[in-house]
Amino acid sequence: MDILKKIQDHREQEEELKWEGTFSEYLELLKERPYLAQSAHSRVYNMIKSAGVAEEHDHKRYKFFDEDIYGLDEAMEKLVEEYFHPAARRLDVRKRILLLMGPVSGGKSTLVNLLKRGMEKYTHTDEGAVFAIKGCPMHEDPLHLVPNHLRKDFQDEYGIRVEGSLSPLNTMRVETEYDGRIEDVLVERIFFSEDKRTGIGTFSPSDPKSQDIADLTGSIDFSTIAQYGSESDPRAYRFDGELNKANRGIMEFQEMLKCDEKFLWHLLSLTQEGNFKAGRFALISADELIIAHTNEAEYRSFIANKKNEALHSRMIVMPVPYNLKVSQEERIYEKMIRESDIRDVHIAPHTLRVAAMFTILTRLKESKKASVDVLKKMRLYDGEILEGFSDVDVEELKKEHADEGMSGIDPRYVINRISSTIIKKELTSINALDVLRSLKDGLGSHASISSEDKERYLDFISLARKEYDEIAKKEVQKAFVYSYEESAVTLMDNYLDNVEAYCNKAKLRDPLTGEELNPDERLMRSIEEQIGVSENAKKAFREEILIRISAYARKGKKFDYQSHERLREAIQKKLFADLKDVVKITTSTKTPDEQQLKKINEVVATLVDEHGYNSSSANELLKYVGSLLNR
Ligand SMILES: Nc1ncnc2c1ncn2[C@@H]1O[C@H](COP(=O)(O)OP(=O)(O)OP(=O)(O)O)[C@@H](O)[C@H]1O
Ligand SMILES: [Mg+2]
Repeated sequence: MDILKKIQDHREQEEELKWEGTFSEYLELLKERPYLAQSAHSRVYNMIKSAGVAEEHDHKRYKFFDEDIYGLDEAMEKLVEEYFHPAARRLDVRKRILLLMGPVSGGKSTLVNLLKRGMEKYTHTDEGAVFAIKGCPMHEDPLHLVPNHLRKDFQDEYGIRVEGSLSPLNTMRVETEYDGRIEDVLVERIFFSEDKRTGIGTFSPSDPKSQDIADLTGSIDFSTIAQYGSESDPRAYRFDGELNKANRGIMEFQEMLKCDEKFLWHLLSLTQEGNFKAGRFALISADELIIAHTNEAEYRSFIANKKNEALHSRMIVMPVPYNLKVSQEERIYEKMIRESDIRDVHIAPHTLRVAAMFTILTRLKESKKASVDVLKKMRLYDGEILEGFSDVDVEELKKEHADEGMSGIDPRYVINRISSTIIKKELTSINALDVLRSLKDGLGSHASISSEDKERYLDFISLARKEYDEIAKKEVQKAFVYSYEESAVTLMDNYLDNVEAYCNKAKLRDPLTGEELNPDERLMRSIEEQIGVSENAKKAFREEILIRISAYARKGKKFDYQSHERLREAIQKKLFADLKDVVKITTSTKTPDEQQLKKINEVVATLVDEHGYNSSSANELLKYVGSLLNR
């Protein structure tokens, strides 16, 4: 479908969703669908919930965040359970400003955007529909029309509690336009849109000295004073501040703590009473979620100032730490690269993973447990299963440092280093070593790294490098073994024949001479030792394999070289050990002979076809592994 058609469809859909009626007709709607009267907070919460919730271990994962926020399931769970959920139930927290606190480029803006874009979509659904007094610049809740003295009766009849009073402008409109007949006041369905300034607002402070409160609460429209005769006529006021426009939805308050404190005091009554003051009017009720964000340093200096106490107590601070999972960090980079102008450059496999390892290491705090070094911690956090550690241990590790994830290297730094390397060197392909080098070179000029941290970070570069060496060797090993597939199958068959005879206490027959032979212990051990099966454990290991084989046979499935993960690894390693010399010679010789060249080309082809390399990155890998093996 072409884009113009889509645009047209969208317009038609919106046209179909439109609704307009009198207040009394709106009340009819409410009888059937009382949830339409929900508060802004409740709508946000329901939107999050409507995307689905997965129960995992003892945690809830809110799928709403899945596509854009990676590795922060627990922070998101806390955010929903400790802010959105209670706020939706009209508990006091909803009156507080939600302050997201976290390190630079840790995803705070991404999170707020996700909520904003989400609300724009959600108000187009039946469950998320929003209705407002027609023609009101603040899209005021129609229920504010219910007079105060009748609200108790209204609640008895409709089961809906009305909060907030009718704004000065609409009070006047009811008199002048509707002759006081509130039942005739026109109500319409509205759709949130930041572009159209409906239900979504963003406030970004400018220079504190010149900051004008009008940006938040609107201002007098001098051109109309003459017409209405007085500055205190609400019709002579433009209710077009961000607080006005974001009514019923979300207002993002960027860099809140950079604002002048006097400015922030205007927010006190909003956060306390749910209303704010504009011009010379009575208080204006607002129903909106205010989200601000800040970093830790700014936050600390804010709370250190006694004058801010009142405001501080009206905030709910939610941490948005860095992600601490290598695999999720990799996804973050992939996403950032997709959105950047280097998306066409070839990035060799494992490059981003190795960069992510380095980054995560800089974010981790050392454990008090002697048995857990940072590398182990990194693996455990990423969900790897390590011998001797259970889920409970991982939970305990996470609890050791409350501020883990609040410092370290940020994703933007990594992406910036990668792009600058690519651009400066005009590379068309980049690998893990290029990236590590570039990350290392950049540390000196990184503004916020102390020299002490720099030392630590350099160590992490070498740790990540060592990890990469292992990965690289394995990769080449796999590719070599691949072109020795046949040998792998033969070795495996041979091993299984011996294991079978061993377990059944039987003899083997020599295929040539027909002579009876004992199982070849040396052969079996040479394979098992590759994956650390000890002398004591060998019997159990062999029996386990036989059981697996018979289980396969029962289901009519063929047991082959891929059917047992550890056995496959053992076979590959054994082959590789046998092949090591071949690899060494083949990969490091400057003038390969015909035979070697053929082998190299096969391996390069495997790396390209099966493992995502291109021919230049595959050749680089081979050369590198050759040099490693020759050390
Ligand atoms: N946990 C995460 N999941 C997904 N993307 C992330 C995550 N953390 C960071 N990013 C990515 O990093 C980049 C910077 O994130 P963002 O701008 O949201 O951070 P921020 O916390 O608002 O930073 P700042 O403090 O600099 O304003 C974005 O491209 C974002 O997609
Ligand atoms: Mg930001």
